[in-house]
Amino acid sequence: MNYTLERANNYIKSNKSEVNQIYRLKYHMAPPIGWMNDPNGLVKFNDEYHFFYQFYPYDSVWGPMHWGHFVTKDLINYKDLDVALAPDQDDESGCFSGGAIVDNNKINLVYTRHYEKDNFKRENDCLAVSEDNIHFEKKGIIFDNELLPADYSRCDFRDPAPYKIDNKYYIFMGAKNEKTNEGIIVVLESESLSNFKYSFTIGPLYEFGDMGECPSYHKIDGLDVLVCSGCHVKEKNNSFKNDNSSVFIIGKIDFINKKMDIYNVHECDKGDSFYAPQFIQNEEKPIIIGWLEMWGKTIPTHTLGHKWAGAFSIPRVLELKDNRIYQHPVSLKDYYVPVTGNKVSRVAHIDLKAFGSFNVTFKAKNGFFSISGNKEAITLDTVSANNLYNKIRKTDHGYTLTKLEILLDSSSVEVFVNDGEFVISSRIYLDTDYEIIEDGNLELIINNINR
Ligand code: FRU
Repeated sequence: MNYTLERANNYIKSNKSEVNQIYRLKYHMAPPIGWMNDPNGLVKFNDEYHFFYQFYPYDSVWGPMHWGHFVTKDLINYKDLDVALAPDQDDESGCFSGGAIVDNNKINLVYTRHYEKDNFKRENDCLAVSEDNIHFEKKGIIFDNELLPADYSRCDFRDPAPYKIDNKYYIFMGAKNEKTNEGIIVVLESESLSNFKYSFTIGPLYEFGDMGECPSYHKIDGLDVLVCSGCHVKEKNNSFKNDNSSVFIIGKIDFINKKMDIYNVHECDKGDSFYAPQFIQNEEKPIIIGWLEMWGKTIPTHTLGHKWAGAFSIPRVLELKDNRIYQHPVSLKDYYVPVTGNKVSRVAHIDLKAFGSFNVTFKAKNGFFSISGNKEAITLDTVSANNLYNKIRKTDHGYTLTKLEILLDSSSVEVFVNDGEFVISSRIYLDTDYEIIEDGNLELIINNINR
């Protein structure tokens, strides 16, 4: 199969009207047609945000990866731009994940060239540069994998995240120690955006499982915060319940002495649908966006033939308190339509305050989901929300006074618990407005979102 940018753009134009709209999200970014996974190269440039993503336009399942491209000014309203990268060279198995950096006043994409043929597999860091923020010219490999320490995998070495720090260029890489089968983050350094050298390693950490994917970096209040997504992290108490898990790593990185002192590591999301989050580059505020899905799931928009799968999470602004990350959704207030009574649209924002134990059920014609709480935990149960995979997921502890921000979109629910101490994200596939059935001492402020 011959994948080119032209073919992808033509295919999208001619076929996107066939996408079934029933579960299309109204204020989350999703591909015009086909499959999406990780956010890639989230970058602020001039007055706009350019967001790229792992994209296979031709089917609602994963395939040879392209980079899709959105542009947005306010993180909510967005436009699709032409496909930025296609696997059209010696990367025909895919342009895998990576990041973006503004250099010389241009957007530079640093991506993974995934090559797999006849039992030979390699992943290399490559550069692509744009003069017009739309078309990208591939410039080739910028790090020679043979410079890695001997035990490190040359074929599981991907998802570069580039930064300029104190006039030097650094790349955080998802990597693996092949000998011990442990996930790590490799840091590369260079004086320019080419000829990178190995610098140092962060990890292994339990939380990186057997491969650390999609690292991303931001400074928050003088500390260094990384996100990283571990593969096959073993379930532990109430954590790591999915095939893969994303975590925050909070500490201090010493780029001169080549080490990171780690103060805390914790999961980003307690739900079954959040992975591979990335910070927005060049944006002062620490804002992350994740893939509002997870590997290993049955995705109804695929099985039902709706011709699309995958979406971005709501952008989350991070706050650091006592070495822990609190997450706040960007505001949707401009779109509020106040609701009285107990009927709510599938696209809504709900502030919930509960004193003691409570249960709220959102009931549609073809199923329901519920949120409950007590001193032990806040629980999101999406098992009956018409999705074969969904699970019951909970926070590590509960509260006497619970405050929830519940974000509903046509096929998603994101629950921000007590000022963002925990977030639980999931996907729901219900077809009608919800009737709310409440139990307990509750206050609800409901706003439909007009989109
Ligand atoms: C994470 C990931 C990345 C890889 C990409 C391929 O979800 O596995 O490590 O680059 O997806 O699409």
